[in-house]
Amino acid sequence: MSNQEPVAVITGGAGDIGKEAARMLGSHGCSVVIADYNPSAGTAVEKELKDSGFNVLFIKTDLLKQNDIINLFSETVEQYNKIDILVNCAGISSRTPVQDITFEEWDTVLNINLRASFFCSQYALKYMVPRKSGCIINIASAAGKIGGVAVGAHYSSSKAAIICLTKSLALFGAPHNIRVNCVCPGPIATAMTDEWGKETNTSFIQKIPLKRYGTPTEVAEVIWFLSSDKAAYITGETVDVNGGLVMD
Ligand SMILES: NC(=O)c1ccc[n+]([C@@H]2O[C@H](COP(=O)([O-])OP(=O)(O)OC[C@H]3O[C@@H](n4cnc5c(N)ncnc54)[C@H](O)[C@@H]3O)[C@@H](O)[C@H]2O)c1
Repeated sequence: MSNQEPVAVITGGAGDIGKEAARMLGSHGCSVVIADYNPSAGTAVEKELKDSGFNVLFIKTDLLKQNDIINLFSETVEQYNKIDILVNCAGISSRTPVQDITFEEWDTVLNINLRASFFCSQYALKYMVPRKSGCIINIASAAGKIGGVAVGAHYSSSKAAIICLTKSLALFGAPHNIRVNCVCPGPIATAMTDEWGKETNTSFIQKIPLKRYGTPTEVAEVIWFLSSDKAAYITGETVDVNGGLVMD
């Protein structure tokens, strides 16, 4: 395997946004590792992107399991010798109202959205730090800035924490020439927003200044920009992709 092209690991790479991020990074010459716990979706995305001529590897990974996270990064390095880019994109959302959130559901949402983003970063950094090179991109949500409108308090709390995690990791990574940034999407036209139903979507879109949902490709463009040398002086930053829904 050539050591020239950047190697990117994308968690949740079988999902709507993760898949577009994989396609975007692949189209810019990256070798892409898709980590997802859904084997049928993961192998389908792997095949689709390979058929498009990209260098893609699917590694089945349950981010709730520490051994799966360890295996994801050791297998990536075994295959490609290095990791240049980590995109922490896996996430689950939930609309459970405050009174009905159980301890178990709180832990599941926080552990997939937040804990896994931290530990994937920790393991990726083990390989990035000695090379003094790398970048990490976390995916938060507008809900992490304004609270959940269509999503639960556990989801929005996990996304708020990801914004702060980004800054902490950026401070850690900077002396090692490693940048860490965050993309903060508003509602994006995906299976997640489909699930909200027509009524919620119609009224939500009215609140968005650009009067539409974003697309996974529009999020992937920002992921690509942040991972590229064009963003060489940007770290610890959170970039909104939300049609003007939140301006801060
Ligand atoms: N869709 C939106 O409107 C929107 C808005 C803001 C933020 N986001 C965030 O963007 C990211 C991607 O969202 P999406 O809409 O593409 O969602 P999606 O459900 O299509 O993709 C999420 C992926 O994560 C994977 N995943 C879930 N739990 C996992 C686990 N334990 N181990 C490994 N993989 C696991 C799923 O299999 C899925 O492929 C998420 O972090 C989400 O919170 C989405």
